Parts: sequence; C-alpha cells; structure tokens
Amino acid sequence: MKHDNVPTRGMSLAAALCDIEYPVFQAGMAGISGPALAAAVSNAGGLGHLGGLRLPPLALRKWIRETRALTDKPFGVNIVPSFGGPEVFEAQFRVILEEKPRVVSLFYGDFAEMIPRAKAAGITVIVQVGSVALARQAIAWGADIVVAQGAEGGGHLNQGTIGVSSLVPAFVEIAEGRPVLAAGGITNRADVRAMLEVGAAGVWAGTAFVAATESLAHDLYKQKIVEATIDDTEYRTGYSFGWPFGTPHRVIPNRKKWNLVKYVGGGARVIDKPEMAEKLSLYAGQGVGKIHSVAPARERVAELVAGFSSWQVGDTASTLQALPVAA
Ligand SMILES: Cc1cc2nc3c(=O)[nH]c(=O)nc-3n(C[C@H](O)[C@H](O)[C@H](O)COP(=O)(O)O)c2cc1C
Repeated sequence: MKHDNVPTRGMSLAAALCDIEYPVFQAGMAGISGPALAAAVSNAGGLGHLGGLRLPPLALRKWIRETRALTDKPFGVNIVPSFGGPEVFEAQFRVILEEKPRVVSLFYGDFAEMIPRAKAAGITVIVQVGSVALARQAIAWGADIVVAQGAEGGGHLNQGTIGVSSLVPAFVEIAEGRPVLAAGGITNRADVRAMLEVGAAGVWAGTAFVAATESLAHDLYKQKIVEATIDDTEYRTGYSFGWPFGTPHRVIPNRKKWNLVKYVGGGARVIDKPEMAEKLSLYAGQGVGKIHSVAPARERVAELVAGFSSWQVGDTASTLQALPVAA
C-alpha cells in the first residue's frame, strides 16, 4: 500500500507503520468499539481499533476474526490491564500475539516486558499517555507511536491535566522521530489542522466514533453526545467501575446518583437496558459540542481526512512536523 496521501514524512511514517492510507486512528473503546466499527474505520482508510478491555480471551479472538471477515485492511486491538488481573491480561496479550493484528495499543500500565514481545511478532505498538514523563517511559519501552492524550479527552485519562495542544509539541521534542498522535476533543477537519500545526503526525479520536452508526453504544448515549455542548462534560477523579479509585476520567454526568457497581461496560452499550444510558455517567470528551448527528464511521473518517488534505507543510513557520524523523 502506498502512503503518499499525507503531506509530511511524519504522517507518512505513522501511516506506513500501520499500513493505512491516512493517520486517522479510532481509539479502542471498551464495550463500544467492536468489529463493525473497527472494520468501517479501516475500510475508510483509517485505523479501526477493537476495545479489548474486559473481553475474555476467547471473545477477543472471536472479535479479531469477525473483524477480519469484515475488512481486509489493517486494524488494531486495544488492551488495558486495569481489569481482570495480570493472568487475564497476559492471556489477552497471547491471543494478540497469535492473531497478529497490525497494531496493538496499550494504556494505563507497565508494558516494559510486553512491548518487545509484540514487536518481535511484527506488531506495531502504540502507547497512549498524558505527560512527558510517561511518554519518555513509553519510548524507553520501545513504543513505535505515542499518543498524546490531552485533558479534553473522553473516558479514562492517563494523567489528564494537560491540554492536547501543549502536550503534542512537548512529545514531539522527546519522541526521537517517532510519530506523535493527538487525542482529546478531536472531531472535525479544523481540529486536525490545529493538531498538525502543533506537530502531530496523526489524530486519535474516541467520542466522535462513539456517535457513529456502527458503534456499540446505546442509542440514548449517542443521542446524549449529539445534544451535549462543550459545557456538559465533567472531569472526575472518583470511582469508576473496574479502575483504581482516583483514576481521572471525563464524562457527561448522569442525572441521578446511581450504584456504579452495576456498571459492566465502558458507557452504556446497545445491549444494556435504557435505564443504564439514562442513569450512568457517559464517557465523552470536550469535542461533544461539535458532533451534531450520529453518522456512519466512514463519514467521520472523511471529515478528519479533510483536515489532512487541506493542510500543507509550511503553512506556518512554526510547524514542528518539519523536524527530521528517524529513518
Ligand atoms: C467511551 C470511551 C471509552 C474508552 N475506552 C478506552 C479503552 O478501553 N482503552 C483506551 O486506551 N482508551 C479508551 N478511551 C480513551 C481514548 O483512547 C481516547 O483517549 C479519547 O477518546 C480521546 O478523546 P475524545 O474522546 O475526546 O476523542 C475511551 C474513550 C471513550 C470516549
């Protein structure tokens, strides 16, 4: 596959490492991004991602195979060690080593031992973090691509105190030529152009794809995202199901206090009762105010891709993307 649809070497490198047309990445989202969404994003030229968190290893294998039946394009699998204990996480990881999706993305843990194993299996490794100290660590472990997760982002945040437009250039400075992806509040072409200006090699979007036709989110959850304004998300550090107490996360708050022990997924899913979507806090980032409808994933990808096509190297003198990248 050629990777000449993107205007700079950094973006080309990001696309080449994942064998995709455009460096538009759909975030892996537990319970929300399944085979239909991942395949739709990959078929549109981006990188779709399965949300593997909380999936038993057998189910994860099934999802990977189902995705392969829906697309012949590369896709990624996201796993997070915060649930189920180290044995389950290792079993999930072994499924990935055996099934060999093009990409594995890792979040919220110590991956020093895993990353070399994934790379030895020929799998590109992406790690998402929200501070320079954590990015340095991910690079030392051997991450191929680093995602700068800004405080604007929806769902759980690995730090969550720094805005994405400050985080991206700080990561570019220490990334030693590795592509840096921007995450947090990215929903449209203008967001993409802004991120390219500060040095991102690509974008990583979650909330915009929750409100995609193919996502496994409950219809009421999708509707909440469509109706929400930028004022409606809240940064929280209290309890959230399956995560260490205090893990920061961004949500559209629920209407009533509710016992979250009942909570079994990442935001209310299509298989959940409507009351889940009505009462649970729903993971969402600050880009909600720019999402005005539920749309097929290919339209979301096309909107983000338009940000790349309408941006040229040298648009501003300060463009960090012009920095040399490692061969
Ligand atoms: C509903 C939802 C579920 C998420 N689940 C995961 C997950 O399982 N693993 C992960 O690495 N990140 C997860 N995230 C965080 C995303 O990777 C990403 O940081 C975030 O979506 C970016 O901000 P945005 O939502 O404003 O685009 C989730 C985000 C959302 C909105």
